[in-house]
Amino acid sequence: MIDEETGRRALPGNGLPAERVLAEVRALRAADRPTHGGRLFAYVYDPAVPGLDELAAAAHAGSAHVNGLDPTAFPSLLAMENALVGAAARLLGGGPGSAAPDVVGSVTSGGTESLILAVKAARDAHPEIAAPRIVVPASAHAAFAKAAHYLRVAVDLVPVSARTLRPAAADVAAAIGPETVLVACSAPSYAHGVVDPVAEIAGAAAAAGVRCHVDACFGGWTLPYLRRLGADVPPFDFAVAGVTSISVDLHKYAYAPKGVSVLLHRDAALRAPQYFAYADWPGYTMVNPVIASTRSGGPIAAAYATVRHLGDDGYLRLAATTRDAVAGLADAVRAVDGLRLMAEPESTVVCFTATDAGLDLFVLVDELAARGWHTQPQLSYADLPPSVHLTVTAAVAPRVAEFGPDLADAVAAARAAGPVGLPAELLALASTLTADALTPELVAGLAAGLGLGGPAGATAPDPDAAAPGRSDGTAPGGPLPGRMAPVNALLDAAPPALRERLLVEFVGLLQRPTY
Ligand SMILES: Cc1ncc(COP(=O)(O)O)c(C=O)c1O
Repeated sequence: MIDEETGRRALPGNGLPAERVLAEVRALRAADRPTHGGRLFAYVYDPAVPGLDELAAAAHAGSAHVNGLDPTAFPSLLAMENALVGAAARLLGGGPGSAAPDVVGSVTSGGTESLILAVKAARDAHPEIAAPRIVVPASAHAAFAKAAHYLRVAVDLVPVSARTLRPAAADVAAAIGPETVLVACSAPSYAHGVVDPVAEIAGAAAAAGVRCHVDACFGGWTLPYLRRLGADVPPFDFAVAGVTSISVDLHKYAYAPKGVSVLLHRDAALRAPQYFAYADWPGYTMVNPVIASTRSGGPIAAAYATVRHLGDDGYLRLAATTRDAVAGLADAVRAVDGLRLMAEPESTVVCFTATDAGLDLFVLVDELAARGWHTQPQLSYADLPPSVHLTVTAAVAPRVAEFGPDLADAVAAARAAGPVGLPAELLALASTLTADALTPELVAGLAAGLGLGGPAGATAPDPDAAAPGRSDGTAPGGPLPGRMAPVNALLDAAPPALRERLLVEFVGLLQRPTY
């Protein structure tokens, strides 16, 4: 047993034996959603290749203390980074012999960092524009909004069609103005997995002399393989003349451990404003291609090992397996009365919504979780209904046959339970309250009413105790409620600005130090 003194502190008076500490970490991890086994449809990307985790972990450990701060001190990292950039460039229509022979790039920590840097490079290429703007389809990843927020760039949002879930290229073209420094599009979008009309959008951007970034963070490593397998993937990479930069995350469908994305530019001149260099201080001269200065070599080495081990043939095989899993899941959705696919799957996402008010999708998500399927609810937005998102990876394939019956069963249970019945006053409050009017007392009251922010549960693990269990498989206990449908229903009733404020407040309640 861990006593009160050593159990609750990250810094115990006396250091603990390694085995004990590892047992604590294992006990904490037991409360997490399962990262393997093909039942978690978000956050993780699992190829289910035996030995791959061990390989990546060994490569990670061997380079964890290497510092990407100075590539001249650690040429191993530079070599691995350059190899990864080359592989990504080739996969995405660049490199020797292609229409984009001069593609260069950087390894970043993730998709968000890649997008922030694409926006920074575009902004800093135009110091003469005092109030820079970016044109972004509403379906683009939220990281563009984050980039704009961090970099003080304004966003011109282009609506997407409720039918195609894509922006019209003409609307994108019309949104480009004299202060536009970047036009964004997705290949594919995260929420629905559809590929934007990249060629038309990039053409409009090029005609206006503006950069065009293709966010292929999610699907950039699979779309080329799906195309080779015969899928009708529209042009989205450097083969499209107006595309100036592309991001692709290796910690998604290249199946590398977290912490690696690649940002590619068509040539070095386009990349130049991405760098930050500083020599006007008494310390070491600094030049950073990415946001972080000190960077662990661990994720880059792990990605390098993963990509080399799986190889082109491995990725092709995994894409075929994933494609078949997507088809099977989509069939399972089609077979259930009351569900409808938001879009015919064209990449590795299955996204569906409910066709009648008697079926509450947020209740369904909880019912699926109770059956061991962890899906991702998406709130309603503009004229798009709420939906359920499934990111499909190769590990899902062996589970597909079990999904259909469980989905039908969960739908029946959700119908029987009925929609979340939030009190009418609460719903009225959610739809009328402004973010500014939200007081800490109101938030605390809401959180308590929804079962959020109870005593922190998993901060003092006892490795000798049984793994913290979930009563219904939906939440780890502690500060989260067992069922999330009421929280999602409340958020769904609120406008985006209030949702954002509520999310910040709720997460703030979870982030409390353990003393
Ligand atoms: C299309 C797209 N862009 C950007 C991101 C952000 O990536 P990250 O979570 O690695 O920062 C994601 C993540 O899912 C994504 O799907």
